[in-house]
Amino acid sequence: MMRLSGKNALITGAGRGIGLAFAKAYVDEGARVAIADIDVNLAEAVAQSIGDAAIPVEMDVSEQASIDAAVAATIEAFGKIDILINNAAIFSAAPICDITRADYSRVFDINVAGTLFTLQAVARHMIENGVKGRIINMASQAGRRGESLVGVYCASKAAVISLTQSAGLNLIEHGINVNAIAPGVVDGEHWVGVDALFAKYEGKPLGQKKKEVGDAVPFGRMGTAEDLCGMAVFLASEEANYVVAQTYNVDGGNWMS
Ligand SMILES: NC(=O)c1ccc[n+]([C@@H]2O[C@H](COP(=O)([O-])OP(=O)(O)OC[C@H]3O[C@@H](n4cnc5c(N)ncnc54)[C@H](O)[C@@H]3O)[C@@H](O)[C@H]2O)c1
Repeated sequence: MMRLSGKNALITGAGRGIGLAFAKAYVDEGARVAIADIDVNLAEAVAQSIGDAAIPVEMDVSEQASIDAAVAATIEAFGKIDILINNAAIFSAAPICDITRADYSRVFDINVAGTLFTLQAVARHMIENGVKGRIINMASQAGRRGESLVGVYCASKAAVISLTQSAGLNLIEHGINVNAIAPGVVDGEHWVGVDALFAKYEGKPLGQKKKEVGDAVPFGRMGTAEDLCGMAVFLASEEANYVVAQTYNVDGGNWMS
């Protein structure tokens, strides 16, 4: 039996990586998905490859007008939104003394303000239309504790965990469940950039950091985007009805909380 039949989902940053894997998993479970991405060409290609159950939506989560337009476009196409995954985010790394205000603002505009104000726009729609919806935020093990070279990104993901708690507590009275997933290290294009930053700051050859973090996972390897799909489907399904304001680690055993 499909667990998301008749549901409509908006997934930000779904043009590649984890968001794309979630979109495919949701379609496999019977949902329709809006593939929202700042890279509209990517979103269009991906939606086309998924088929009739997917639509592309251009969206920059750091711009309020773009959030409003993307939410409106999804409602126009599907009638309503039942599930939001706040997945779009960017990574950055630098020693504390090298962090710039510009980098801080960019990361927080996308990872924190993007999550909050997309959540707000979709929650308002759900409340106005009596939709007992699901909102899933993408946190990270980086939000569980600081890392020497990753101050801004870690702080942004700690903020996502905190916002998940506050929004979860505030919105459950409307029947909207807000929860989050905290992955560990997940292989994909994202890690090309992460690995390059560590190579720069730790003086490692390219590929070295990626190998080290994979070897250090108790499960024995880096995660894949597909490793996260079970949790993303569960949190959107009826089975998670009583789950509120939580952040779940799906990280092969890296972090326990
Ligand atoms: N890959 C990992 O190791 C890892 C670990 C922990 C948490 N996460 C989190 O999981 C989520 C997905 O990660 P990923 O590895 O798939 O990343 P990714 O970089 O592969 O994909 C991110 C997507 O977001 C889009 N995007 C970037 N800025 C945007 C914006 N302003 N508006 C809309 N879309 C935008 C990009 O175009 C891209 O398609 C992120 O929230 C990330 O922080 C990833």
